[in-house]
Amino acid sequence: FNDGPLRGVRVLISAGPTFEDIDPVRYLGNRSSGRMGYAVAAAAAAAGAEVCLVSGPVCLDTPAGVARRIDVRSAQQMYDAVLTEARASDIYIAAAAVGDYRPKGVAEHKMKKRDGAPLTLELAENPDILAAVAALDASPFLVGFAAETRDVETYARDKLERKKLDMIAANQVGGGLGFEAEDNALTLIDRQGSETLPRCDKRELAQALIARIAAQFHAQRPS
Ligand code: C5P
Repeated sequence: FNDGPLRGVRVLISAGPTFEDIDPVRYLGNRSSGRMGYAVAAAAAAAGAEVCLVSGPVCLDTPAGVARRIDVRSAQQMYDAVLTEARASDIYIAAAAVGDYRPKGVAEHKMKKRDGAPLTLELAENPDILAAVAALDASPFLVGFAAETRDVETYARDKLERKKLDMIAANQVGGGLGFEAEDNALTLIDRQGSETLPRCDKRELAQALIARIAAQFHAQRPS
């Protein structure tokens, strides 16, 4: 029996990178390991939530207690899965590093070298998953991540407003923090103010983040 702060709350989490195929053997990806999102999923499940994890390609086991995991590859696939699940979720935590662009077309066969001639890849913009969830009639409590290499708080605050989020977890990438790292440090920003969770391992950080999300969620939607 779990009487944690998210008991019975349906939490949707997206995690990991997206891979955007160029041809049958190549893709555009990014350096997200999925570890932060998976740690958040583990912490939410431990807090009693019914967790659905939508995951890009990662080398991680599904955390204990996660009710459902949906594996996707591209941003479009993640968009489809998240939009379907979001309608039946109370909280959506967008921890995935979604590719902003995809190749305009996927070559049917492996592309060949061009004898020294330059190759141009034409890219099309991917849909913004969080913004689409925010635009739903009954949108869940929304938590975004902002991984930046500079001006972390300014960019994060801007994203909170622009994407109509309830909370944003901002982190500086680089210097042993963020992508591919064991440790992270987060600044949590909501409409009331901001709070910094100092550097520690992603598991502890995820537990602190889930505690803050649970408190805000219940404050906004008293049950
Ligand atoms: O990429 P960006 O810094 O704008 O990401 C901020 C937040 O928006 C993250 O939570 C990320 O998961 C989400 N996002 C999204 N769909 C995109 C790009 C980002 O949901 N296409």
